[in-house]
Amino acid sequence: MSQVQGKVALVTGAASGIGAACAEVLAREGARVVATDIDDARGAGLIAKIKQAGGEAKYFHHDVTSEAAWAEVVAATEKLHGRLDILVSNAGIALSAPSIVDVSLSDWRRQTAINLDGVFLSVKYGIPAMRRCGGGSIIMMSSVAGLRGTPSLAAYCATKGGVRLFAKAVAMECAQANDGIRVNSVHPGIIDTPIWNKITGTATPPEHNSMTIAEGFAQLSVPLGFAGQAEDIANGVLYLASDAARYLTGTELIIDGGMTGGSFRRAPPDGNQ
Ligand code: NAI
Repeated sequence: MSQVQGKVALVTGAASGIGAACAEVLAREGARVVATDIDDARGAGLIAKIKQAGGEAKYFHHDVTSEAAWAEVVAATEKLHGRLDILVSNAGIALSAPSIVDVSLSDWRRQTAINLDGVFLSVKYGIPAMRRCGGGSIIMMSSVAGLRGTPSLAAYCATKGGVRLFAKAVAMECAQANDGIRVNSVHPGIIDTPIWNKITGTATPPEHNSMTIAEGFAQLSVPLGFAGQAEDIANGVLYLASDAARYLTGTELIIDGGMTGGSFRRAPPDGNQ
């Protein structure tokens, strides 16, 4: 039995990386997927891939910072499928600067607009639709950077920490309303996606404006010793979306290769201590 058969899932930031993997896995497991993003070319590619694999998916252009766009996308989803059961608030960017004092106000606002305003709007418009069909599962993409601080990513950490507690507060509101909606956050560690090539900011000097996955990996020790793949996160999202997680709300699923579990001293490659 497919794990989310018959459910309707809306995934933001679905054209790339973790969002694309979530859309593919949910479609493979029987969901009718509405995939949204601002990258229409990659969005079209994703839909073709899902359809080729026998899944059902539709793409909408959707900037998550636009309130009008949220109203349109949720209305279009209900018009298309009559319901909304699963909402994956995944779209996000990461801006880096050597120090928080180098972060421009415009970068701070761009960072928070996509990573926080976008998630706020997702529940503002998603919850009423879910209530109309008797409940659902909301999954917000946070990060290990929402659990602990990372130098040069302070603004990003602020948004991801915000998402973590926002999920818990909304979960309590929904539980109090007894509306059948579960709300949880997911905390990926270092996942090999295009986001690592896009980490930028307006700080000077320019060489401080980016962080590669290799640099991130070197800075942050990963006990399992390798970067995760987008599917590792999508599998966790699938679980939270499914009825198997019916007793989970207000919690956080950390998928990080052990980063937050602890650390140990790794023997050097030649075996000398
Ligand atoms: P990605 O860069 O591969 O995908 C992000 C997608 O969001 C892109 O398709 C992009 O077009 C879209 N997007 C950007 N701005 C948007 C906007 N205003 N409206 C709608 N869509 C927009 O990145 P990745 O890695 O797949 O990231 C997905 C989520 O996972 C993000 O929230 C990110 O912060 C989070 N995350 C990623 C980690 C990683 O190591 N890759 C680690 C922890 C969290």
